[in-house]
Amino acid sequence: MPVLHLTRKEHFNAAHRLWNPNWSDEKNYEEFGICANPHFHGHNFDLYVTVKGSPSADTGCIINLKELKDIIRKEIIEELDHKNLNMDVPWLSHCIPSIENMAVEIWKRLSAALPEGAVISKITLWETQNNFVEYYGE
Ligand code: NI
Repeated sequence: MPVLHLTRKEHFNAAHRLWNPNWSDEKNYEEFGICANPHFHGHNFDLYVTVKGSPSADTGCIINLKELKDIIRKEIIEELDHKNLNMDVPWLSHCIPSIENMAVEIWKRLSAALPEGAVISKITLWETQNNFVEYYGE
């Protein structure tokens, strides 16, 4: 059976600040620069969720795309859109909300919510036009 990777793109806007509470102010500003600004800053995030599988003989599809869209919106977009990622999101509160940590937490959350047999192969998260991360679940 051929194995394909299917991607759904979603978008959200959110604010964050890169700040390690275990460090001094000086060390935080030295490491994170303007990303540590005290009153936060915003990004237009693009999230790509890639699932892997073989097309079903019945549907020709790997996954029901409407179902995938609904799960991403409920589990991720409604949770993050127009939020402060440092303060408003319980499942990000244990970590610095960098795109690296966000991608890992998004993977965990979606994996738990997807239907049986749906396998995520990659989470891609764009933060700016120049910066993005890819997470393959390792
Ligand atoms: Ni930022």
